[in-house]
Amino acid sequence: MALDVVLVRLLIIAAVASVLPARGRADGAAGLAIGFYNEKCPGAEDLVLEEMRDIVHEDRTLGPALLRLLFHDCFVRGCDASIMLKSRSKKGERDAKPMSYSLRGFDEVERIKAKLEEACPLTVSCADIIIMAARDAVYLNNGPRFPVETGRRDGKVSNCVDAENDLAPPNANIVDLKTYFSVKNLSWKDLVVLSGSHTIGSSQCAAFAGDRLYNHSGKGMQDPTLNKTYAPDLRMMCEAGNETDTTPVSMDPGSPHEFDLSYYRDVYSNKGLFVSDQALLDDKLTHDYVARMAAAPSPDEFFDDYAAAMINMGRMEVLTGHNGEIRKICGAYVD
Ligand code: HEM
Repeated sequence: MALDVVLVRLLIIAAVASVLPARGRADGAAGLAIGFYNEKCPGAEDLVLEEMRDIVHEDRTLGPALLRLLFHDCFVRGCDASIMLKSRSKKGERDAKPMSYSLRGFDEVERIKAKLEEACPLTVSCADIIIMAARDAVYLNNGPRFPVETGRRDGKVSNCVDAENDLAPPNANIVDLKTYFSVKNLSWKDLVVLSGSHTIGSSQCAAFAGDRLYNHSGKGMQDPTLNKTYAPDLRMMCEAGNETDTTPVSMDPGSPHEFDLSYYRDVYSNKGLFVSDQALLDDKLTHDYVARMAAAPSPDEFFDDYAAAMINMGRMEVLTGHNGEIRKICGAYVD
Protein backbone atom coordinates (compact mmCIF):
# COMPACT_ATOMS: atom_id res chain seq x y z
CA MET A 1 0.00 0.00 0.00
CA ALA A 2 1.34 3.46 -0.85
CA LEU A 3 2.53 5.54 2.10
CA ASP A 4 0.06 8.35 1.44
CA VAL A 5 -2.84 5.86 1.44
CA VAL A 6 -1.59 4.43 4.75
CA LEU A 7 -1.37 7.92 6.23
CA VAL A 8 -4.85 8.88 5.09
CA ARG A 9 -6.25 5.66 6.58
CA LEU A 10 -4.48 6.27 9.89
CA LEU A 11 -5.82 9.82 10.01
CA ILE A 12 -9.37 8.63 9.32
CA ILE A 13 -9.16 5.98 12.07
CA ALA A 14 -7.71 8.54 14.51
CA ALA A 15 -10.41 11.07 13.65
CA VAL A 16 -13.22 8.52 13.98
CA ALA A 17 -11.86 7.25 17.29
CA SER A 18 -11.57 10.72 18.74
CA VAL A 19 -15.16 11.75 17.99
CA LEU A 20 -16.89 8.44 18.68
CA PRO A 21 -19.56 8.78 21.36
CA ALA A 22 -17.71 5.70 22.54
CA ARG A 23 -19.63 2.98 24.30
CA GLY A 24 -16.59 2.82 26.55
CA ARG A 25 -16.75 6.41 27.69
CA ALA A 26 -20.02 5.73 29.49
CA ASP A 27 -18.43 2.91 31.46
CA GLY A 28 -15.23 4.62 32.38
CA ALA A 29 -13.13 5.14 29.26
CA ALA A 30 -13.04 8.90 29.68
CA GLY A 31 -9.39 9.80 30.08
CA LEU A 32 -8.13 7.63 27.23
CA ALA A 33 -6.63 9.36 24.23
CA ILE A 34 -4.58 8.59 21.20
CA GLY A 35 -1.13 9.96 21.97
CA PHE A 36 -1.75 10.22 25.74
CA TYR A 37 2.02 10.03 26.37
CA ASN A 38 3.06 12.53 23.69
CA GLU A 39 3.97 15.11 26.32
CA LYS A 40 4.39 12.97 29.45
CA CYS A 41 6.80 10.55 27.83
CA PRO A 42 7.59 11.48 24.23
CA GLY A 43 8.88 8.48 22.35
CA ALA A 44 7.08 5.94 24.57
CA GLU A 45 5.28 4.37 21.60
CA ASP A 46 8.49 4.29 19.53
CA LEU A 47 10.33 2.67 22.38
CA VAL A 48 7.69 -0.07 22.67
CA LEU A 49 7.88 -0.70 18.93
CA GLU A 50 11.68 -0.90 18.95
CA GLU A 51 11.66 -3.31 21.88
CA MET A 52 8.95 -5.38 20.19
CA ARG A 53 11.06 -5.54 17.04
CA ASP A 54 13.88 -7.09 19.07
CA ILE A 55 11.55 -9.43 20.92
CA VAL A 56 9.90 -10.74 17.75
CA HIS A 57 13.28 -10.99 16.04
CA GLU A 58 14.58 -13.12 18.90
CA ASP A 59 11.47 -15.33 19.01
CA ARG A 60 8.71 -14.84 16.48
CA THR A 61 6.23 -16.85 18.53
CA LEU A 62 6.15 -14.03 21.07
CA GLY A 63 4.20 -11.65 18.82
CA PRO A 64 1.04 -13.78 18.84
CA ALA A 65 1.60 -14.55 22.52
CA LEU A 66 1.52 -10.83 23.36
CA LEU A 67 -1.59 -10.28 21.26
CA ARG A 68 -3.33 -13.06 23.17
CA LEU A 69 -2.18 -11.56 26.47
CA LEU A 70 -4.17 -8.42 25.65
CA PHE A 71 -7.34 -10.47 25.14
CA HIS A 72 -6.85 -12.20 28.49
CA ASP A 73 -6.09 -8.92 30.21
CA CYS A 74 -9.02 -6.93 28.83
CA PHE A 75 -11.76 -9.54 29.25
CA VAL A 76 -11.00 -10.02 32.94
CA ARG A 77 -11.56 -6.91 35.07
CA GLY A 78 -10.85 -4.74 32.02
CA CYS A 79 -7.59 -3.71 30.35
CA ASP A 80 -5.72 -3.01 33.59
CA ALA A 81 -2.72 -5.36 33.50
CA SER A 82 -4.28 -7.46 36.25
CA ILE A 83 -3.24 -10.48 34.16
CA MET A 84 0.34 -9.68 35.21
CA LEU A 85 -0.20 -9.66 39.00
CA LYS A 86 1.12 -12.46 41.18
CA SER A 87 -0.01 -13.62 44.59
CA ARG A 88 1.64 -15.81 47.21
CA SER A 89 -1.58 -16.82 48.91
CA LYS A 90 -4.16 -17.30 46.18
CA LYS A 91 -4.50 -17.93 42.46
CA GLY A 92 -4.62 -14.92 40.15
CA GLU A 93 -5.86 -14.48 36.59
CA ARG A 94 -2.66 -15.87 35.14
CA ASP A 95 -3.16 -19.12 37.07
CA ALA A 96 -6.61 -19.79 35.60
CA LYS A 97 -6.84 -23.25 34.13
CA PRO A 98 -7.37 -24.29 31.42
CA MET A 99 -7.81 -20.85 29.82
CA SER A 100 -4.56 -19.19 30.83
CA TYR A 101 -2.19 -22.13 31.27
CA SER A 102 -0.37 -21.52 28.01
CA LEU A 103 -0.16 -17.71 28.17
CA ARG A 104 3.26 -16.26 27.45
CA GLY A 105 4.79 -12.82 27.12
CA PHE A 106 4.90 -11.81 30.79
CA ASP A 107 8.69 -11.40 30.80
CA GLU A 108 8.53 -9.35 27.62
CA VAL A 109 6.01 -6.91 29.10
CA GLU A 110 8.40 -6.56 32.05
CA ARG A 111 11.30 -6.02 29.67
CA ILE A 112 9.48 -3.20 27.88
CA LYS A 113 8.41 -1.75 31.21
CA ALA A 114 12.04 -1.68 32.43
CA LYS A 115 13.04 0.36 29.35
CA LEU A 116 10.17 2.77 29.88
CA GLU A 117 11.06 3.15 33.55
CA GLU A 118 14.55 4.22 32.49
CA ALA A 119 13.10 6.78 30.07
CA CYS A 120 10.15 8.05 32.11
CA PRO A 121 9.87 6.67 35.66
CA LEU A 122 6.39 5.75 36.89
CA THR A 123 4.66 7.25 33.88
CA VAL A 124 3.57 4.58 31.41
CA SER A 125 1.16 1.98 32.79
CA CYS A 126 1.59 -1.75 32.32
CA ALA A 127 -1.95 -1.85 30.88
CA ASP A 128 -0.91 0.54 28.11
CA ILE A 129 2.28 -1.42 27.47
CA ILE A 130 0.19 -4.56 26.92
CA ILE A 131 -2.05 -2.91 24.33
CA MET A 132 0.82 -1.14 22.56
CA ALA A 133 2.79 -4.40 22.42
CA ALA A 134 -0.23 -6.25 21.04
CA ARG A 135 -0.77 -3.57 18.41
CA ASP A 136 2.88 -3.79 17.42
CA ALA A 137 2.72 -7.58 17.29
CA VAL A 138 0.06 -7.28 14.59
CA TYR A 139 2.20 -4.83 12.63
CA LEU A 140 5.36 -6.92 13.00
CA ASN A 141 3.49 -9.90 11.58
CA ASN A 142 2.90 -7.94 8.40
CA GLY A 143 -0.45 -6.64 9.55
CA PRO A 144 -1.73 -3.08 9.65
CA ARG A 145 -0.36 -0.36 11.91
CA PHE A 146 -3.11 1.52 13.67
CA PRO A 147 -3.42 3.90 16.60
CA VAL A 148 -4.49 2.69 20.02
CA GLU A 149 -5.72 4.85 22.84
CA THR A 150 -3.59 5.11 25.97
CA GLY A 151 -4.05 6.59 29.42
CA ARG A 152 -5.05 3.42 31.28
CA ARG A 153 -3.88 2.81 34.81
CA ASP A 154 -3.07 -0.49 36.45
CA GLY A 155 -5.48 -2.47 38.59
CA LYS A 156 -4.52 -3.98 41.91
CA VAL A 157 -6.81 -7.02 41.98
CA SER A 158 -6.42 -10.32 40.18
CA ASN A 159 -8.65 -13.34 40.79
CA CYS A 160 -8.43 -16.69 39.10
CA VAL A 161 -12.19 -17.15 39.28
CA ASP A 162 -12.82 -13.96 37.27
CA ALA A 163 -10.71 -15.35 34.43
CA GLU A 164 -12.56 -18.67 34.57
CA ASN A 165 -15.90 -16.87 34.33
CA ASP A 166 -15.13 -14.18 31.77
CA LEU A 167 -13.02 -15.88 29.10
CA ALA A 168 -14.81 -17.90 26.45
CA PRO A 169 -13.48 -21.46 26.23
CA PRO A 170 -12.37 -22.83 22.84
CA ASN A 171 -15.41 -25.11 22.69
CA ALA A 172 -17.90 -22.25 23.10
CA ASN A 173 -20.84 -22.16 20.69
CA ILE A 174 -21.95 -19.02 18.89
CA VAL A 175 -24.68 -18.13 21.40
CA ASP A 176 -22.22 -18.31 24.28
CA LEU A 177 -19.51 -16.45 22.35
CA LYS A 178 -21.86 -13.58 21.59
CA THR A 179 -22.85 -13.49 25.26
CA TYR A 180 -19.22 -13.47 26.48
CA PHE A 181 -18.67 -10.47 24.22
CA SER A 182 -21.94 -8.62 24.78
CA VAL A 183 -21.60 -8.63 28.57
CA LYS A 184 -18.35 -6.78 27.96
CA ASN A 185 -20.13 -4.32 25.68
CA LEU A 186 -18.64 -5.83 22.53
CA SER A 187 -20.72 -6.67 19.46
CA TRP A 188 -21.03 -9.64 17.11
CA LYS A 189 -18.77 -7.68 14.80
CA ASP A 190 -16.09 -7.25 17.45
CA LEU A 191 -16.33 -11.02 17.98
CA VAL A 192 -15.86 -12.01 14.35
CA VAL A 193 -13.21 -9.34 13.72
CA LEU A 194 -11.13 -9.99 16.85
CA SER A 195 -11.34 -13.74 16.24
CA GLY A 196 -9.36 -12.87 13.11
CA SER A 197 -6.39 -12.59 15.50
CA HIS A 198 -6.18 -16.37 15.08
CA THR A 199 -4.59 -15.70 11.70
CA ILE A 200 -1.28 -15.72 13.60
CA GLY A 201 0.09 -17.97 16.29
CA SER A 202 -0.48 -21.46 17.47
CA SER A 203 -2.45 -23.54 19.90
CA GLN A 204 -1.44 -26.47 22.00
CA CYS A 205 -3.19 -29.71 21.00
CA ALA A 206 -4.74 -29.86 24.47
CA ALA A 207 -6.94 -26.85 23.66
CA PHE A 208 -8.76 -28.45 20.70
CA ALA A 209 -7.88 -32.10 20.08
CA GLY A 210 -10.58 -33.48 22.39
CA ASP A 211 -13.43 -31.38 21.01
CA ARG A 212 -12.39 -31.39 17.37
CA LEU A 213 -10.60 -34.68 16.76
CA TYR A 214 -11.26 -37.42 19.26
CA ASN A 215 -14.12 -36.83 21.63
CA HIS A 216 -16.57 -34.36 20.14
CA SER A 217 -19.47 -33.71 22.55
CA GLY A 218 -18.13 -36.53 24.72
CA LYS A 219 -19.10 -39.07 22.04
CA GLY A 220 -15.64 -40.41 21.19
CA MET A 221 -15.86 -39.09 17.63
CA GLN A 222 -14.41 -36.40 15.38
CA ASP A 223 -16.29 -33.11 15.07
CA PRO A 224 -18.49 -33.71 12.00
CA THR A 225 -18.11 -30.05 10.99
CA LEU A 226 -14.29 -30.27 10.73
CA ASN A 227 -12.92 -30.36 7.19
CA LYS A 228 -12.46 -34.06 6.36
CA THR A 229 -9.24 -33.63 4.43
CA TYR A 230 -7.69 -31.37 7.06
CA ALA A 231 -8.55 -33.56 10.06
CA PRO A 232 -5.93 -36.27 9.31
CA ASP A 233 -3.18 -33.59 9.33
CA LEU A 234 -4.29 -32.52 12.79
CA ARG A 235 -4.53 -36.11 13.99
CA MET A 236 -0.93 -36.67 12.90
CA MET A 237 0.15 -33.84 15.20
CA CYS A 238 -2.05 -34.41 18.25
CA GLU A 239 -2.04 -37.62 20.20
CA ALA A 240 -5.42 -39.20 21.02
CA GLY A 241 -6.35 -39.25 24.67
CA ASN A 242 -3.56 -36.92 25.80
CA GLU A 243 -5.35 -34.09 27.54
CA THR A 244 -2.13 -32.29 28.36
CA ASP A 245 -0.54 -32.47 24.91
CA THR A 246 1.45 -29.25 24.56
CA THR A 247 2.42 -29.78 20.90
CA PRO A 248 2.00 -26.41 19.15
CA VAL A 249 -0.21 -26.40 16.05
CA SER A 250 -0.44 -23.34 13.80
CA MET A 251 -3.94 -21.93 13.83
CA ASP A 252 -3.54 -20.74 10.23
CA PRO A 253 -1.08 -23.29 8.85
CA GLY A 254 -0.72 -21.65 5.41
CA SER A 255 0.63 -18.38 6.82
CA PRO A 256 1.07 -18.55 10.61
CA HIS A 257 3.19 -15.39 10.71
CA GLU A 258 1.12 -13.28 8.32
CA PHE A 259 -1.66 -11.15 9.71
CA ASP A 260 -3.95 -11.57 6.72
CA LEU A 261 -7.35 -12.81 5.57
CA SER A 262 -6.48 -16.48 5.49
CA TYR A 263 -8.07 -17.10 8.91
CA TYR A 264 -11.41 -16.35 7.27
CA ARG A 265 -10.62 -18.61 4.32
CA ASP A 266 -9.72 -21.37 6.77
CA VAL A 267 -12.90 -20.93 8.81
CA TYR A 268 -15.04 -20.73 5.70
CA SER A 269 -13.64 -24.06 4.52
CA ASN A 270 -14.22 -25.64 7.96
CA LYS A 271 -10.56 -25.58 8.90
CA GLY A 272 -10.88 -23.34 11.93
CA LEU A 273 -9.00 -24.99 14.78
CA PHE A 274 -11.44 -24.39 17.60
CA VAL A 275 -15.14 -25.04 17.97
CA SER A 276 -15.29 -21.27 18.65
CA ASP A 277 -13.79 -20.52 15.21
CA GLN A 278 -16.12 -22.94 13.44
CA ALA A 279 -19.06 -21.47 15.40
CA LEU A 280 -18.71 -18.18 13.53
CA LEU A 281 -20.46 -19.93 10.64
CA ASP A 282 -23.54 -20.59 12.80
CA ASP A 283 -24.89 -17.03 12.98
CA LYS A 284 -26.06 -15.13 9.93
CA LEU A 285 -24.11 -11.95 10.65
CA THR A 286 -20.82 -13.58 11.63
CA HIS A 287 -21.20 -16.13 8.82
CA ASP A 288 -21.67 -13.40 6.25
CA TYR A 289 -18.64 -11.51 7.53
CA VAL A 290 -16.48 -14.64 7.35
CA ALA A 291 -17.75 -15.37 3.84
CA ARG A 292 -17.10 -11.82 2.67
CA MET A 293 -13.59 -11.70 4.09
CA ALA A 294 -12.80 -15.17 2.73
CA ALA A 295 -13.54 -13.85 -0.75
CA ALA A 296 -12.19 -10.32 -0.34
CA PRO A 297 -9.53 -9.30 -2.83
CA SER A 298 -7.83 -7.05 -0.29
CA PRO A 299 -7.54 -7.06 3.52
CA ASP A 300 -8.30 -3.33 3.79
CA GLU A 301 -11.82 -3.69 5.19
CA PHE A 302 -10.67 -6.28 7.75
CA PHE A 303 -7.75 -4.06 8.76
CA ASP A 304 -10.03 -1.05 9.29
CA ASP A 305 -12.51 -3.19 11.25
CA TYR A 306 -9.68 -4.64 13.30
CA ALA A 307 -8.36 -1.21 14.25
CA ALA A 308 -11.87 -0.18 15.35
CA ALA A 309 -12.43 -3.41 17.29
CA MET A 310 -9.13 -2.96 19.11
CA ILE A 311 -10.25 0.51 20.19
CA ASN A 312 -13.49 -1.06 21.48
CA MET A 313 -11.73 -3.86 23.35
CA GLY A 314 -9.15 -1.41 24.68
CA ARG A 315 -11.93 0.60 26.36
CA MET A 316 -13.21 -2.28 28.42
CA GLU A 317 -13.63 -1.32 32.09
CA VAL A 318 -10.49 0.78 32.12
CA LEU A 319 -9.08 2.67 35.09
CA THR A 320 -8.09 6.25 34.30
CA GLY A 321 -7.42 9.54 36.07
CA HIS A 322 -6.81 8.92 39.77
CA ASN A 323 -8.06 5.34 39.75
CA GLY A 324 -5.62 2.46 39.92
CA GLU A 325 -1.89 3.04 39.88
CA ILE A 326 1.16 3.16 37.63
CA ARG A 327 3.16 0.12 38.68
CA LYS A 328 6.93 -0.08 38.50
CA ILE A 329 6.94 -3.87 38.27
CA CYS A 330 4.02 -5.11 36.18
CA GLY A 331 4.12 -8.58 37.69
CA ALA A 332 4.26 -7.38 41.28
CA TYR A 333 2.98 -9.57 44.11
CA VAL A 334 -0.31 -8.38 45.55
CA ASP A 335 0.47 -10.20 48.79
C1 HEM B 1 -13.53 -15.50 20.76
C2 HEM B 1 -13.07 -16.15 21.78
C3 HEM B 1 -11.69 -16.74 21.79
C4 HEM B 1 -11.36 -17.99 22.14
C5 HEM B 1 -12.33 -19.09 22.57
C6 HEM B 1 -9.93 -18.13 22.01
C7 HEM B 1 -9.22 -19.28 22.30
C8 HEM B 1 -7.88 -19.42 22.09
C9 HEM B 1 -7.13 -20.62 22.42
C10 HEM B 1 -7.70 -21.86 23.07
C11 HEM B 1 -5.86 -20.43 22.01
C12 HEM B 1 -4.72 -21.42 22.09
C13 HEM B 1 -4.18 -21.53 23.47
C14 HEM B 1 -3.14 -22.62 23.56
O1 HEM B 1 -2.00 -22.44 23.18
O2 HEM B 1 -3.45 -23.69 24.00
C15 HEM B 1 -5.79 -19.11 21.44
C16 HEM B 1 -4.67 -18.57 20.90
C17 HEM B 1 -4.58 -17.27 20.49
N1 HEM B 1 -5.57 -16.33 20.59
FE1 HEM B 1 -7.50 -16.65 21.01
N2 HEM B 1 -9.42 -16.95 21.59
C18 HEM B 1 -10.45 -16.05 21.46
C19 HEM B 1 -10.34 -14.73 21.13
C20 HEM B 1 -9.15 -14.09 20.91
C21 HEM B 1 -8.99 -12.66 20.80
C22 HEM B 1 -10.11 -11.66 20.99
C23 HEM B 1 -7.67 -12.44 20.53
C24 HEM B 1 -6.92 -11.16 20.35
C25 HEM B 1 -7.45 -9.97 20.27
C26 HEM B 1 -7.03 -13.73 20.45
C27 HEM B 1 -5.72 -13.94 20.12
C28 HEM B 1 -5.08 -15.16 20.12
C29 HEM B 1 -3.72 -15.35 19.63
C30 HEM B 1 -2.86 -14.32 18.94
C31 HEM B 1 -3.41 -16.68 19.89
C32 HEM B 1 -2.08 -17.38 19.59
C33 HEM B 1 -1.21 -17.31 20.83
C34 HEM B 1 0.18 -17.88 20.64
O3 HEM B 1 0.57 -18.26 19.53
O4 HEM B 1 0.90 -17.92 21.65
N3 HEM B 1 -7.94 -14.70 20.71
N4 HEM B 1 -7.02 -18.52 21.51
